[in-house]
Amino acid sequence: MESHILVRGFAAGSATHVFDALLSVGFRLTRVLTNHERAGLSVTADRQARVGVVGGGIRGSMFARAISENPRAHLVAICDQSSRVLQGAATSFDVPTYGSVEAMVGAHPELTAAIVATPDFAHRDAAVVCATHGLDLMIEKPLATTTADAEAIIATANKSGSRIMVGFENRWNPRFSTVRNLLRTVDGGRLITQQVSLNDTIFVPTKMLSWAEKSSPAWFLMPHTLDLAIWLSGTQPVSVYARGHRGVLAGLGINTWDSVSATFTMNDGSYVVLNSSWILPETAPAVYDFRYEIQTDSTVFHIDGANHGITQYGAAGVRWPQCAVFERSGRITGIPIDMVNDFVGFVREGDTDVPTHEDGLLVTQAIEAVHESLAEGSIIELFPHVHKK
Ligand SMILES: NC(=O)c1ccc[n+]([C@@H]2O[C@H](COP(=O)([O-])OP(=O)(O)OC[C@H]3O[C@@H](n4cnc5c(N)ncnc54)[C@H](O)[C@@H]3O)[C@@H](O)[C@H]2O)c1
Repeated sequence: MESHILVRGFAAGSATHVFDALLSVGFRLTRVLTNHERAGLSVTADRQARVGVVGGGIRGSMFARAISENPRAHLVAICDQSSRVLQGAATSFDVPTYGSVEAMVGAHPELTAAIVATPDFAHRDAAVVCATHGLDLMIEKPLATTTADAEAIIATANKSGSRIMVGFENRWNPRFSTVRNLLRTVDGGRLITQQVSLNDTIFVPTKMLSWAEKSSPAWFLMPHTLDLAIWLSGTQPVSVYARGHRGVLAGLGINTWDSVSATFTMNDGSYVVLNSSWILPETAPAVYDFRYEIQTDSTVFHIDGANHGITQYGAAGVRWPQCAVFERSGRITGIPIDMVNDFVGFVREGDTDVPTHEDGLLVTQAIEAVHESLAEGSIIELFPHVHKK
């Protein structure tokens, strides 16, 4: 019955809309009608990406700009707990701002989607409010910082029909997608190990993030590298052993890990070593350091994620200017912008080649296990009930 209504609604539009409707009918149905009924909008109009941004900090303001410049999307509103951030958002974007996600969602029944860019530990509450209202979600990595939080978000979304994409932006980096394709050729070889260092200078926990103490280098950085390790290889982690160091940041009043190393055994017998530190000196040529190595039985890949091919020598020393995000003709473009533009496609047409809630849940479970291993000093089996079968 509902599917009949949806197809008939699109049949009134262009041939493309009919085709899109047929492709996406089963997948989108509940959410479309939920929002349709809530906002009292026509079904055709409801295929617009009308987006609210939750958290207007570094990432949220970038995403808000990307949405505002995307002709296929409409930036509806921004919310943030900080009045300073809201003042900045009101100056930059001609949209209403709110002090809470509840206020934003309540004031805008026309919203069809939201981007959650709050600190890691605050994803759950924001995402659950948005999912309760049936909004499609792009949630920054990690999906959540506990398995229970991730499951709560997913359960709410399943109930309302919201769909979730997780912001694992490195999947949009052409270096990694090129290597992923190469690994699938005959020359790629049989995977043996992936060894990855993704570190930040001490600037990040001490000056950039006000919430570093509620996170860790493992929560902030390893979701990127673990998702890549899984996505590049098509394997999944089954156990992890982690070691770490505390003291430098704690000595500065930020009570979290300085550095974490985690070794994962994967379900194909390969292993993955992830290193993430938050205490590199600020004299490093970029605010982060990203070195990725993949060894197979016939090949080795070295991928440099932080050196974008430009070295600048000047009064400030040696610098690696970054070009993952840049401006062209007055518009923002680059890797995370490609990701958010694909979120618009995900909302409108149901594009499925994006990181899902299952990908997000797996990474959250695995990074939670990293912290468990750090606390217990032992190997943690990720899914003992599954692997004992
Ligand atoms: N900064 C990066 O390089 C980077 C890169 C990739 C992903 N991320 C992820 O993006 C997310 C946001 O990180 P960020 O660097 O933009 O942090 P940020 O501190 O710059 O911004 C977070 C914003 O969320 C607001 N906020 C906190 N709780 C809120 C709530 N309940 N409702 C509404 N707003 C709330 C804060 O006031 C702040 O303005 C994190 O999950 C982070 O891991 C960050």
